[in-house]
Amino acid sequence: MKVTIVGAGNVGASCAEYILIKQIAEEIVLLDIKEGFAEGKALDLTQTKSTLGFTSKVYGVTNNYTKTADSDIVVITSGIPRKPGMTREELIGINAGIVKSVTENLLDYSPNAIIIVVSNPMDTMTYLINQSFKLPKNRIIGMGGILDSSRFKTYISKATGCSQHEIEAMVIGGHGDTTMIPIISLAKCNNKLLTKILSENQITEIASNTMVGGATLTKLLGTSAWYAPGASVSYLVNAILNDTKEILPCSVLLDGEYGAKDLCIGVPVLIGKDGFEEVVELDLSNKELEMFKNSIKAVKETNSSLIGLI
Ligand code: LAC
Repeated sequence: MKVTIVGAGNVGASCAEYILIKQIAEEIVLLDIKEGFAEGKALDLTQTKSTLGFTSKVYGVTNNYTKTADSDIVVITSGIPRKPGMTREELIGINAGIVKSVTENLLDYSPNAIIIVVSNPMDTMTYLINQSFKLPKNRIIGMGGILDSSRFKTYISKATGCSQHEIEAMVIGGHGDTTMIPIISLAKCNNKLLTKILSENQITEIASNTMVGGATLTKLLGTSAWYAPGASVSYLVNAILNDTKEILPCSVLLDGEYGAKDLCIGVPVLIGKDGFEEVVELDLSNKELEMFKNSIKAVKETNSSLIGLI
C-alpha cells in the first residue's frame, strides 16, 4: 500500500513517522514545495529504521507529483497553520487555492485514491474538493473529529482519573473553536455515563477545554499542534487500509443526514477500504441537536467564501 502526504511540515512529517513506526503502509511519499525539505525529512526518517525496527520505505520529493503515482491514499496537509490568536477559518484565503491545485495534481497521478483532508479550515477544504472534482463522496474524508475526540478523552481522563483507553467519547460538528460539539450525553468512562460521575460544572469545563484544545496548543507552541494531529491521521489511514469498519467522526458530504445537505461537517461514519461507507445517526440530546444546527450554519457561512473557486 502506498500513501502520499502533501506538506512535509510538522503534521505531515508526524503522520509519516507514525505510519512508518506502525508499518501501516509499505511506501510513503512526502511531497513539499520547499526545495529539499521533504527529501530531508524522508532521509531523517529513513535513518530511524535500524533503531526503530520498521521496514517500510519513505521518499521525499519537491513538488514532483510523478513520484506520487498510484497512491492508495493521499493526505493533504498543505497550506499554512494558524498562529496564536488566529481562528482556523482565517486561513481560508491562502489555503483554498493551494488545496485545490494540490488535489488536481494528485488526481492526475492517483485518480482512484482516497483523499484525507487536514488543511484548515478543514470542513470547508473538504467541501471545496467535493465540489471541484465530482469524485464519489465516499472517497473524500476530512480529518478533525478523531483529533478533537482524542482531546476530549484527554480532558475527561484528567478530570476522572480514568484511563483514556476506557473512555468512549466523540466530538462531531465543525472542526472549529466554536463549531465542534463534544457529545456529552453519550460520553462514558469505564462504561459509566460521564453525566452520572461528574458535576455539570466539571463537564462544562471539559467541553470548553476540548473546543479550544487546538488554540491552547497554538498559544503554547507558537504554531498549531502536530503529534496528536499526525497520530489521528495515521489512525484513519490504518482504518481505511485495513478495512477496520470502525465508526469514527469525520467530515463528509451530507445529503440529508442529520437534517443537513450541501456541506461537509463532522459526523460518525463507518470507515472501510473504500473510504466512508455510511453515516451513522446518533441519538443526540436536544441541546446537542441545537448545537449541531448552529454548527451547520457557521460552516456554511465559511463555505460562502469559496465563491469563485468552485
Ligand atoms: C489542530 C489543527 C490541526 O486542531 O487543526 O491542531
